[in-house]
Amino acid sequence: MRRIFVLKASTAVTAPIFILRNIAGTSGRLDIVCRCIINAFLINGRIRRNVDFYAVLEGPPSPPRLLMVSSELLSHLPKSEVEVARIIRDLLSIGKGFHPRNEAFKIDRMSFKKLILYLKNEGYSLVYLHENGVDIRKFNFASLTSTVFILGDHLGLDPASEKFLDSLNIPRISLGPISYLASHCIILVNEELDRLKV
Ligand SMILES: C[S@@+](CC[C@H](N)C(=O)[O-])C[C@H]1O[C@@H](n2cnc3c(N)ncnc32)[C@H](O)[C@@H]1O
Repeated sequence: MRRIFVLKASTAVTAPIFILRNIAGTSGRLDIVCRCIINAFLINGRIRRNVDFYAVLEGPPSPPRLLMVSSELLSHLPKSEVEVARIIRDLLSIGKGFHPRNEAFKIDRMSFKKLILYLKNEGYSLVYLHENGVDIRKFNFASLTSTVFILGDHLGLDPASEKFLDSLNIPRISLGPISYLASHCIILVNEELDRLKV
C-alpha cells in the first residue's frame, strides 16, 4: 500500500528568507516539515520506497506553495533537518519545478483544498489524523491500495479546513488519546502499517 502524507504547514514561509542556523525561529516552523520528511522516508539504514510526502506551505510572503517528495525518485535522503531545509530553500528560490540535484524534491503552487480534491479525484483513500477519530487499529486498510494521511502542524488544522474535510466525508483516524507531534504521528502510522504488512 502506498502511504501518502499531507502536512498543512500553516505558517511555513514561502520564500528563501530563513536562516539555516535557526530554522525553527526564522522559517515559520519549516523545521516541522523537515522532521516530517525525515520520519516519512528514513528507516534504519534505508529509504521507504512506498511513501510520498506533500507539505502545503501557507506562510508569508507568497502562499500557497506545494512541496512534494517522492520516494520513487529518492536516491538519497538528507539525514539532518538543516540539509532538508537547504533543499527547501533552494526550491523556494527556484519557485517551481524539481530540485536540480535531488529530483525527488519538487515545488509548485497549489492550495491545500486543491491538493485534497486532486488526490480524491485520483482515486486515493483519504483519512484525517485526529486524536478523537476512530482507532487506527480498528480501521480496515487491507483492501486499500493507497492511503493519504492528512496532518496538521503545531497549530493543528484550522476549523475551516476541518469543515472542508468533513464535507468530503473524510474519516478521522486516531493514534491514541494523546496529541503527538506531526513528525511523531508519521512514525506511528508507518509502524502501524508495517505491523499489518500493507
Ligand atoms: C502537534 S499536533 C497539533 C496540536 C494542536 N495544538 C491541536 O490541538 O490540534 C499535529 C497534528 O498531528 C496529528 N495528531 C496529533 N496527535 C494525534 C493523535 N493522537 N491521533 C491522530 N492524529 C494526531 C493531527 O493531525 C494534528 O493536527
